[in-house]
Amino acid sequence: MLADCCPRRAAHVAIGLCLVMLASAPAQGQAQTQAPDAIAERYPIVPRPARLEPRAGEFMLTARTIIVVSASDSMLGHRLARELAPATGHALRVVVGNADAAHATSSRIVLERDASRVSLGSEGYTLTVSATDVHIRASDAPGLFYAVQSLRQLLPAANYRAAAQPTVRWTVPAVHIEDTPRFPWRGAHLDVARHFMPVDFVKRWIDLLAMHKLNRFHWHLTDDQGWRIAIAKYPRLTEVGGCRARTLIGPFTTSEATRRYDETRHCGFYTQDDIREVVQYAAERHVTVVPEIEMPGHAQALLAAYPALGVYPDSVVTPMQVWGVSDFILNVDESTITFMHDVLTEVLALFPGPFIHVGGDEAKKAQWIASPRVQARMRELGVAGEHELQSWFIRRMDVFLTARGRRLIGWDEILEGGLAPNATVMSWRGTAGGIAAAREGHDVVMAPTSHTYFDYYQSGDRSAEPLAFGGFLPLDTVYAYEPIPSELTPEQARHVLGAQAQHWTEYMRTPRQVEYMAFPRLSALAEVVWTPAARRDFADFRRRLDTHMARLAALGVNARPLAPEGASPPAR
Ligand code: ACM
Repeated sequence: MLADCCPRRAAHVAIGLCLVMLASAPAQGQAQTQAPDAIAERYPIVPRPARLEPRAGEFMLTARTIIVVSASDSMLGHRLARELAPATGHALRVVVGNADAAHATSSRIVLERDASRVSLGSEGYTLTVSATDVHIRASDAPGLFYAVQSLRQLLPAANYRAAAQPTVRWTVPAVHIEDTPRFPWRGAHLDVARHFMPVDFVKRWIDLLAMHKLNRFHWHLTDDQGWRIAIAKYPRLTEVGGCRARTLIGPFTTSEATRRYDETRHCGFYTQDDIREVVQYAAERHVTVVPEIEMPGHAQALLAAYPALGVYPDSVVTPMQVWGVSDFILNVDESTITFMHDVLTEVLALFPGPFIHVGGDEAKKAQWIASPRVQARMRELGVAGEHELQSWFIRRMDVFLTARGRRLIGWDEILEGGLAPNATVMSWRGTAGGIAAAREGHDVVMAPTSHTYFDYYQSGDRSAEPLAFGGFLPLDTVYAYEPIPSELTPEQARHVLGAQAQHWTEYMRTPRQVEYMAFPRLSALAEVVWTPAARRDFADFRRRLDTHMARLAALGVNARPLAPEGASPPAR
């Protein structure tokens, strides 16, 4: 990762066109004539729906409200009832059956599969609220799930609380919403190698993603400072690679003499049962987990466990105790390729999603250059240089994954020696990698430091913030991010699957610190990847964010308090 590597781009605030659609809606009552501010306050959904038609009146949720759901979606209905119970104090009855059946006179929340909504895609839905009824329609389970997220955001924020709120009136403003996401890849990455995050927090993280209609959890499981996934065939990966003896305290310094350490072992890994549990938990919330296993660089913890895989097999290596990038890199022996294939075999059994991330970033080539053995191997393989050698390595993983029906994804360095045929590129060093890959016809996920590195400071006044990695990335800059680079033709732009936020945890030692760095920036990014570009409007978002912050507070999320209305403070 780079510190302070990218100049902060000028924040650009898109002008929302929310009223265009409202103007064309049929007259339905006084809500129609409300000013945009009032609409944002009445319908504070984050991310903002694609289309929203205000209507007059409200639905009142009471102890007599029933949830009507078909058998195939009964889990979702029961979960909604369960989630609303603590704060409302109501144990809503869930009726499994046909929406048209006997319940017409009750106050109902109807969750219905409706093939006519197929044009909204599997994640799209409609949500119609009247005085008597909440009617959700979607062609598929993800759409129903996202509609439920919107419904909860139309209720008072207190519905996210875990204890009874007896003075709250549980009203939902009348509305008709038609919603569908802009991008299929709406992600958040979490580095658990620099600081291990317990399973309970990983699940909470997934809950927070799902609440924001984010659907990809990029789990950064291995790095120089720790290996966090149990691999049955190679137990030393976690026994040795899962523990570092101590950790740097305070800012990174290149001078060993001025470094301070905590003198505390930092250990942790996920068992395969833990991982299965997380993957299932995520799937129930329509989140796909994308595991990352770093190679051929960022491999110092791996080499601490199995030094024979390195260029210098006799060196004594320990998991790294400071930040930055290790010089240690995997060797290119066939036995090392086999080892990594073995690791991936276990990874594939745990993670059913299509994408497997193999890292590929910041692999320092000095050891390869200095090693006669690696140089000889390069000649034997007919490979022209070290970048091409890295490409050869990544291609071996690509062939392996493709043969098993999966797709390789890697950081944009995998372009450098020639891209593997089936690779998808995650563009982090700006957008150039993403542009190049899309032009070559490869799929791309945008993750540039300039707009998506949430380890950067949230304020220009660093003295008021907890120690962070560097950089400056305020809320309005995140919100202004446009994932489709203007250099791409419409045909090439179709390769941009979406974007995601990065949470590197060198300076996030605890879940609470992760939450502080993530929120509310992740709420802004959720809108970037969900909402149509023409519907994005920072001022409108900022109004809705007041309520959204109350939701996060109700959940106990340690979000960074909002800066005063409007702009972020200047960079220093
Ligand atoms: C990265 O930040 N090294 C992908």
